[in-house]
Amino acid sequence: MTAVDNKNSRTAGADIEAMFTDRWSSKAFSDQTLKQEQINSLFEAARWAPSGNNRQPWLFVYSTSGPQREKFDSLLSEGNAVYVPKAAMMVLVFARTFDDDGNRIRTAFFDTGAAWMSLALQANLMGLNTRALGGIDLDGAYEIANVPADKYETVCGIAIGYPGTDADLIPSLVQQNFANDRKDISVVAYSDRYSP
Ligand SMILES: Cc1cc2nc3c(=O)[nH]c(=O)nc-3n(C[C@H](O)[C@H](O)[C@H](O)COP(=O)(O)O)c2cc1C
Repeated sequence: MTAVDNKNSRTAGADIEAMFTDRWSSKAFSDQTLKQEQINSLFEAARWAPSGNNRQPWLFVYSTSGPQREKFDSLLSEGNAVYVPKAAMMVLVFARTFDDDGNRIRTAFFDTGAAWMSLALQANLMGLNTRALGGIDLDGAYEIANVPADKYETVCGIAIGYPGTDADLIPSLVQQNFANDRKDISVVAYSDRYSP
């Protein structure tokens, strides 16, 4: 199978490594499957993310195929259901928001976000495409993934797979499928004092 060139034309506003602008979330996935070693590499990258008190509050439950994958796909919003099922793997992401003593882990979502970004960058370096998915049935995810709702909170889903082409998309998605831009650094980072 020929690899799809998933590059984009983003330009950075300061000197950074190309991996930060190279990663983008295409909606086009090819039907190429993933090897278990590749899946392991993705979660290994996530595992090394920093977290408050090194609690590592992230939890990933993934499915690639079969009846369980169909259940994962059944959680998708209408908009996501038209492209995510084609991705080789879907991941449900949870954050451990309460510890064993019932105390809230305030940084759980922040930490889990760091782990997701590590996974996404590793995926991109491996030639894979990722797209995070807030549009899922957050409550339904607990039962399908067998995750206790009193300890964890559903964060989002992630679609992962080899990038596809426009031919892998329904026609209405083709125009929307591009690498978008960012706010200017001057409105997100301030020296000494926030001064909008
Ligand atoms: C937490 C989160 C939830 C998202 N939810 C969805 C979603 O439900 N459907 C979708 O198509 N894209 C979703 N996205 C993708 C974003 O729209 C995308 O990351 C953003 O536009 C930036 O583009 P980039 O990832 O290509 O840099 C989500 C991204 C994040 C981080």
